[in-house]
Amino acid sequence: MPSHGSEGSPRSIVLVGLMGAGKSCIGRRLATRLGLPFVDADSEIEAAAGCSIEEIFECHGEAAFRDGERRVIARLLDEAPRVLATGGGAFMDPQTRATIRARSVSVWLRAELDLLVKRTARRNNRPLLKHGDAREILGKLMTERDPVYAEADIVVDSKDAPPEATVERLIGALEEYQQRTDSRR
Ligand code: S3P
Repeated sequence: MPSHGSEGSPRSIVLVGLMGAGKSCIGRRLATRLGLPFVDADSEIEAAAGCSIEEIFECHGEAAFRDGERRVIARLLDEAPRVLATGGGAFMDPQTRATIRARSVSVWLRAELDLLVKRTARRNNRPLLKHGDAREILGKLMTERDPVYAEADIVVDSKDAPPEATVERLIGALEEYQQRTDSRR
Protein backbone atom coordinates (compact mmCIF):
# COMPACT_ATOMS: atom_id res chain seq x y z
CA MET A 1 0.00 0.00 0.00
CA PRO A 2 2.05 2.98 -1.16
CA SER A 3 1.12 6.15 0.64
CA HIS A 4 0.04 9.07 -1.48
CA GLY A 5 0.10 12.78 -1.00
CA SER A 6 -2.66 15.04 -2.26
CA GLU A 7 -0.99 15.27 -5.68
CA GLY A 8 -1.01 11.48 -6.01
CA SER A 9 2.70 10.71 -5.97
CA PRO A 10 3.96 8.16 -3.42
CA ARG A 11 5.35 9.75 -0.29
CA SER A 12 7.62 8.70 2.49
CA ILE A 13 6.12 7.91 5.89
CA VAL A 14 7.81 9.80 8.70
CA LEU A 15 7.48 8.76 12.33
CA VAL A 16 7.69 11.48 14.95
CA GLY A 17 7.30 11.43 18.73
CA LEU A 18 9.22 11.39 21.97
CA MET A 19 12.22 9.27 22.88
CA GLY A 20 11.00 5.79 23.74
CA ALA A 21 7.82 6.01 21.66
CA GLY A 22 9.10 3.14 19.50
CA LYS A 23 9.73 5.02 16.25
CA SER A 24 12.59 2.79 15.09
CA CYS A 25 11.05 -0.47 16.24
CA ILE A 26 7.66 0.28 14.68
CA GLY A 27 9.22 1.97 11.64
CA ARG A 28 11.34 -1.04 10.78
CA ARG A 29 8.36 -3.40 10.98
CA LEU A 30 6.11 -1.00 9.06
CA ALA A 31 8.68 -0.75 6.27
CA THR A 32 8.83 -4.54 5.98
CA ARG A 33 5.05 -4.74 5.79
CA LEU A 34 4.86 -2.02 3.12
CA GLY A 35 7.88 -3.25 1.14
CA LEU A 36 9.63 0.08 1.59
CA PRO A 37 13.19 0.77 2.73
CA PHE A 38 13.58 1.83 6.37
CA VAL A 39 15.94 4.54 7.48
CA ASP A 40 16.70 5.93 10.90
CA ALA A 41 17.55 9.66 10.83
CA ASP A 42 19.73 9.45 13.96
CA SER A 43 21.86 6.68 12.43
CA GLU A 44 22.21 8.72 9.22
CA ILE A 45 23.30 11.77 11.22
CA GLU A 46 25.90 9.65 13.01
CA ALA A 47 27.16 8.24 9.70
CA ALA A 48 27.39 11.72 8.16
CA ALA A 49 29.22 13.13 11.20
CA GLY A 50 31.42 10.07 11.73
CA CYS A 51 30.61 10.05 15.46
CA SER A 52 27.79 9.27 17.86
CA ILE A 53 24.95 11.63 18.77
CA GLU A 54 26.34 11.75 22.29
CA GLU A 55 29.67 12.93 20.89
CA ILE A 56 28.01 15.52 18.64
CA PHE A 57 26.14 16.97 21.64
CA GLU A 58 29.28 16.88 23.79
CA CYS A 59 31.75 18.33 21.29
CA HIS A 60 29.59 20.64 19.19
CA GLY A 61 26.40 21.25 21.17
CA GLU A 62 22.71 20.71 20.48
CA ALA A 63 22.43 23.52 17.89
CA ALA A 64 25.05 21.80 15.68
CA PHE A 65 23.16 18.52 16.05
CA ARG A 66 19.90 20.19 14.97
CA ASP A 67 21.64 21.69 11.91
CA GLY A 68 22.87 18.26 10.88
CA GLU A 69 19.45 16.76 11.59
CA ARG A 70 17.75 19.36 9.38
CA ARG A 71 20.12 18.70 6.48
CA VAL A 72 19.99 14.92 6.75
CA ILE A 73 16.18 14.76 6.92
CA ALA A 74 15.83 17.13 3.93
CA ARG A 75 18.21 14.91 1.94
CA LEU A 76 16.45 11.68 2.93
CA LEU A 77 13.05 13.08 1.97
CA ASP A 78 14.40 14.11 -1.42
CA GLU A 79 15.09 10.48 -2.24
CA ALA A 80 12.72 7.63 -3.10
CA PRO A 81 9.79 6.91 -0.72
CA ARG A 82 10.74 5.18 2.51
CA VAL A 83 9.79 4.83 6.13
CA LEU A 84 11.81 7.32 8.15
CA ALA A 85 12.15 7.29 11.94
CA THR A 86 13.19 10.71 13.24
CA GLY A 87 14.81 11.67 16.54
CA GLY A 88 12.37 13.07 19.11
CA GLY A 89 13.36 16.71 18.58
CA ALA A 90 13.32 16.74 14.76
CA PHE A 91 9.66 17.72 14.30
CA MET A 92 10.13 20.63 16.75
CA ASP A 93 12.40 22.42 14.30
CA PRO A 94 10.12 24.62 12.15
CA GLN A 95 12.12 24.04 8.98
CA THR A 96 12.34 20.28 9.45
CA ARG A 97 8.63 20.20 10.27
CA ALA A 98 7.82 22.11 7.07
CA THR A 99 9.96 19.69 5.03
CA ILE A 100 8.25 16.67 6.60
CA ARG A 101 4.80 18.15 6.06
CA ALA A 102 5.54 19.01 2.43
CA ARG A 103 7.12 15.74 1.39
CA SER A 104 5.71 12.95 3.51
CA VAL A 105 2.84 11.54 5.50
CA SER A 106 3.73 12.20 9.13
CA VAL A 107 2.75 9.90 11.97
CA TRP A 108 2.92 10.83 15.65
CA LEU A 109 3.60 7.73 17.72
CA ARG A 110 2.05 8.83 21.00
CA ALA A 111 2.88 7.04 24.23
CA GLU A 112 2.12 7.46 27.93
CA LEU A 113 4.80 8.86 30.21
CA ASP A 114 5.19 5.57 32.15
CA LEU A 115 5.94 3.72 28.94
CA LEU A 116 8.44 6.33 27.75
CA VAL A 117 10.23 6.17 31.11
CA LYS A 118 10.32 2.36 31.00
CA ARG A 119 11.58 2.17 27.44
CA THR A 120 14.20 4.93 27.67
CA ALA A 121 15.67 3.29 30.79
CA ARG A 122 16.97 0.49 28.56
CA ARG A 123 19.65 2.71 27.00
CA ASN A 124 21.93 5.29 28.49
CA ASN A 125 23.05 7.18 25.39
CA ARG A 126 20.44 9.91 25.06
CA PRO A 127 22.09 13.27 25.82
CA LEU A 128 18.84 14.94 26.91
CA LEU A 129 18.22 12.31 29.58
CA LYS A 130 21.72 12.24 31.04
CA HIS A 131 21.40 15.09 33.47
CA GLY A 132 18.45 14.74 35.77
CA ASP A 133 15.43 12.59 36.42
CA ALA A 134 14.17 10.93 33.23
CA ARG A 135 10.51 11.05 34.29
CA GLU A 136 10.72 14.75 35.05
CA ILE A 137 12.56 15.55 31.80
CA LEU A 138 10.23 13.45 29.66
CA GLY A 139 7.17 14.96 31.39
CA LYS A 140 8.42 18.45 30.59
CA LEU A 141 9.19 17.48 26.98
CA MET A 142 5.68 16.05 26.65
CA THR A 143 4.16 19.36 27.74
CA GLU A 144 6.33 21.30 25.30
CA ARG A 145 6.24 18.96 22.38
CA ASP A 146 2.89 17.15 22.33
CA PRO A 147 0.99 20.14 20.86
CA VAL A 148 3.53 20.23 18.01
CA TYR A 149 3.57 16.46 17.43
CA ALA A 150 -0.22 16.78 17.21
CA GLU A 151 0.27 18.63 13.91
CA ALA A 152 1.27 15.31 12.30
CA ASP A 153 -1.11 13.93 9.65
CA ILE A 154 -1.88 10.81 11.69
CA VAL A 155 -1.77 9.97 15.41
CA VAL A 156 -1.26 6.39 16.56
CA ASP A 157 -0.98 5.24 20.17
CA SER A 158 2.11 3.23 20.96
CA LYS A 159 1.20 0.80 23.70
CA ASP A 160 2.97 -1.61 26.01
CA ALA A 161 2.02 -4.51 23.77
CA PRO A 162 3.60 -6.49 20.94
CA PRO A 163 4.78 -4.02 18.23
CA GLU A 164 2.84 -5.91 15.55
CA ALA A 165 -0.42 -4.65 17.11
CA THR A 166 0.74 -1.03 16.80
CA VAL A 167 1.90 -1.64 13.22
CA GLU A 168 -1.52 -3.06 12.40
CA ARG A 169 -3.28 0.02 13.78
CA LEU A 170 -0.82 2.27 11.95
CA ILE A 171 -1.50 0.55 8.64
CA GLY A 172 -5.25 0.97 9.23
CA ALA A 173 -4.76 4.66 10.02
CA LEU A 174 -2.65 5.14 6.88
CA GLU A 175 -5.36 3.51 4.75
CA GLU A 176 -7.99 5.79 6.26
CA TYR A 177 -5.77 8.82 5.72
CA GLN A 178 -5.24 7.84 2.11
CA GLN A 179 -8.98 7.41 1.50
CA ARG A 180 -9.63 10.84 3.02
CA THR A 181 -6.96 12.43 0.82
CA ASP A 182 -8.17 10.57 -2.29
CA SER A 183 -11.75 11.70 -1.77
CA ARG A 184 -10.60 15.33 -1.61
CA ARG A 185 -8.84 15.11 -4.97
C1 S3P B 1 16.32 13.64 20.87
C2 S3P B 1 15.95 12.34 20.62
C3 S3P B 1 16.92 11.31 20.19
C4 S3P B 1 18.12 11.95 19.48
C5 S3P B 1 18.72 13.03 20.31
C6 S3P B 1 17.71 14.14 20.67
C7 S3P B 1 15.27 14.62 21.30
O1 S3P B 1 16.29 10.38 19.31
O2 S3P B 1 17.73 12.47 18.23
O3 S3P B 1 19.23 12.43 21.48
O4 S3P B 1 15.50 15.84 21.19
O5 S3P B 1 14.19 14.16 21.73
P1 S3P B 1 15.21 9.27 19.78
O6 S3P B 1 13.87 9.96 19.86
O7 S3P B 1 15.24 8.27 18.67
O8 S3P B 1 15.66 8.72 21.07
